[in-house]
Amino acid sequence: MTTALARLIDILGGDPFTGFPYQSYQADRQGWADPRSILMTVVRRMHPTLVAEIGSWKGDSAIAVARELDALAAPGSVLCVDTWLGGVEHILGDGDNGNWLRREHGFPQIYRQFLANVMHAGMQGRIIPVPQTSTIAARLLTHLGVRPQVIFLDASHDFIDLSIDLSLYWPLLAEGGVIVGDGYTKFWPGVIAAARRFARQQNLPLVAHRGQFVFAKGANPVAELCAPAEQTCWDPETEVEVPIPAEAVAAPA
Ligand SMILES: C[S@@+](CC[C@H](N)C(=O)[O-])C[C@H]1O[C@@H](n2cnc3c(N)ncnc32)[C@H](O)[C@@H]1O
Repeated sequence: MTTALARLIDILGGDPFTGFPYQSYQADRQGWADPRSILMTVVRRMHPTLVAEIGSWKGDSAIAVARELDALAAPGSVLCVDTWLGGVEHILGDGDNGNWLRREHGFPQIYRQFLANVMHAGMQGRIIPVPQTSTIAARLLTHLGVRPQVIFLDASHDFIDLSIDLSLYWPLLAEGGVIVGDGYTKFWPGVIAAARRFARQQNLPLVAHRGQFVFAKGANPVAELCAPAEQTCWDPETEVEVPIPAEAVAAPA
């Protein structure tokens, strides 16, 4: 573990898994991790020593990445940045009888399910939770000199929020690293608009694969799998590329 990561864990109050009674919780990894995703391919090809996931929910995708690193016998860690307060879609979601966030006395407790899931999967040695907003976490990681090789943006899918995340996490990305963003689908015009704008601003090719966009600082390690994504996005229902929604095109330049 690097000095910067050790310092981060120290600042956050030590190992959060120590003494956590995970057996009181059943494993419940409801999530959206897809073994065919570009994120998993990037991990397989790059063997990154540090992955930062922005938006972790119950830990499904982070656990999948950590397990992949384990399978590769690669010495990598996964930073999980999340408020564990949910996005609008979780707050309004009707799962778990309208209590997706497991509120107690009004405050969400989903972080506990995240901890339990990571421990049920035996991945606590690789995963480091950072309970913070994406913006404050980016500033903290900058301050500590943490430079991930892979950054997975899967927090808010709102245009402004993702635009801010892209602008804060791009400078943090190590040279030769890759940002993968989730939600490049017909259901999230804000994601499409933010990725399109960022590509224009940074003069980067806009490419995507199965609903995840990719920006590389250097050669794109999954270039041959990606397709130009200016005009089309993924439809997860039919699993084909479809024209991007009109709202995404109309977003601010
Ligand atoms: C789509 S879920 C993440 C799913 C997860 N990557 C997976 O595949 O299992 C989005 C998560 O982002 C978090 N989130 C939303 N906006 C955030 C923000 N501004 N800062 C930190 N976390 C945020 C929510 O709390 C939620 O847990």
